[in-house]
Amino acid sequence: MKSKKTFNKSICCIGAGYIGGPTMAAIADHNHDRKVIVVDINKARIDAWNSDKMPIFEPGLDEVVKRRRGKNLFFSTDIDGAIKQCDIIFVGVNTPTKTFGRGAGCASDLQYWEATARNIVKVANRDKIVVEKSTLPVRTAEAMERILSNHPKFHFEVLSNPEFLAEGTAVKDLEAPDRVLIGGHQTPRGKAAIKALAEVYAAWVPKEKILTTNLWSAELSKLAANAMLAQRISSVNSLSALCEATEADIDQVAKAIGMDSRIGPKFLKTGPGFGGSCFKKDILNLVYICENYGLKEVADYWRQVVLINDYQQERMVAGIIKTMFNTLANKKLAVFGFAFKANTSDTRESPAIAITKLLAAERAQIVITDPEALGHVSGDLGELAANVETTEDPYEAAKGADAIILLTEWEQYKALDYKKLYKAMRKPAFLFDGRNILNHVELKSIGFEVKGIGKP
Ligand code: NAD
Ligand code: UDX
Repeated sequence: MKSKKTFNKSICCIGAGYIGGPTMAAIADHNHDRKVIVVDINKARIDAWNSDKMPIFEPGLDEVVKRRRGKNLFFSTDIDGAIKQCDIIFVGVNTPTKTFGRGAGCASDLQYWEATARNIVKVANRDKIVVEKSTLPVRTAEAMERILSNHPKFHFEVLSNPEFLAEGTAVKDLEAPDRVLIGGHQTPRGKAAIKALAEVYAAWVPKEKILTTNLWSAELSKLAANAMLAQRISSVNSLSALCEATEADIDQVAKAIGMDSRIGPKFLKTGPGFGGSCFKKDILNLVYICENYGLKEVADYWRQVVLINDYQQERMVAGIIKTMFNTLANKKLAVFGFAFKANTSDTRESPAIAITKLLAAERAQIVITDPEALGHVSGDLGELAANVETTEDPYEAAKGADAIILLTEWEQYKALDYKKLYKAMRKPAFLFDGRNILNHVELKSIGFEVKGIGKP
């Protein structure tokens, strides 16, 4: 007979990454009466969470962590100890795209996630609520339940509580989420678990924003939200190509369509394509699931979002080559921005990686500058990194360069002294504004040959 028990207040999160760290810090900040333990197999990461230098750059995060660390927020490598102590266990481990075997390049690699489920069964000492925080394929909870139901004594109630925060605004997003989604079984135990988790969020999130659904809706909603957001970006980027062919201006077009209240203005900014650890991975995962259910047309529809994203990067490089007299060999190119977006040090799937590789294939000399992300350059570029220079100083990067290629919309790039940059460059001096954030009229008056994206 499995025991019935009410859950006490301790919470742990397995996985101390971009999701685990910030979400648990927010929960601890608003639930002083709960102990929150974040655990990871990566000791260096845990050490960083316990130090003065956080392992991730996220505006406002330092303050929240420092406010609660050692009081009710703890970072540790003692995974088993945390599982034993806590009643609500979040699983926030990485679920990257599979790189091997069946589904390689598309399906989710669930090995880290399954390892945590098996570990929970092995060490648990009483009933637990297990919360999927990682983004997972729809119906993953079924597999998790099968592993967890192997325990002879204890019951594990699985909930899906996908995270919608965006990097760079994680603290703000957690503080005032559009919604908190909790999916669970509509059984008495499932409902009790949903209620227990909803209480954690109700400490600061208005009740009407806490949405409860069945498990499968919650799992699918996360993939669907990311797919829909990415689809808007690919839509606007596809139109940017048409703008260049027709002398329309994509920023004007985006403004005009975004003023339609049915469409709305957000996520219509053209650029070098979306990056980040989530969009591509989650769409490919959606594609794989659709294929598995025999929905080929649906799979093809979503795959196109990723194909347009790759096309945008290839298109941008083709434009650079053409503009610079069809050769980049031995030309010095200053890449401004390596992070996948501003206000983060994260470079996972950053468009800058693919674009730098394409530029290097043209035998250009590349200097990369970024205020936060340079630490990832060698890992992301592999062997190529030996031929690429890096500097935190954009003026240094532009010295003697033939072109500036702006790829990340860092606020500080708007405020640079472009006259000084122009002076230091070889002429003609080209500037490719991959984010359309600079004042092109002013730059042209300085002397730059300027190209934006989707601009006449
Ligand atoms: P991450 O790689 O930054 O962090 C995952 C952590 O899990 C790593 O530190 C890793 O060491 C740890 N880990 C792996 N296996 C473990 C195990 N068996 N025991 C303990 N720790 C283990 O990844 P992330 O960006 O935080 O993403 C985690 C999940 O959250 C993914 O499914 C992702 O799709 C989802 N998500 C991420 C974001 C985002 O903005 N990054 C947003 C929403 C959802
Ligand atoms: C995304 C989702 O927004 C978030 O809800 C989810 O939890 C995780 O995935 P993130 O990848 O951190 O968040 O950042 P996001 O702001 O969505 O940007 C993703 C990429 O799209 C970036 O490369 C960004 O530069 C690009 N983007 C975004 C555009 O090119 N144009 C836009 O209008 C918006």
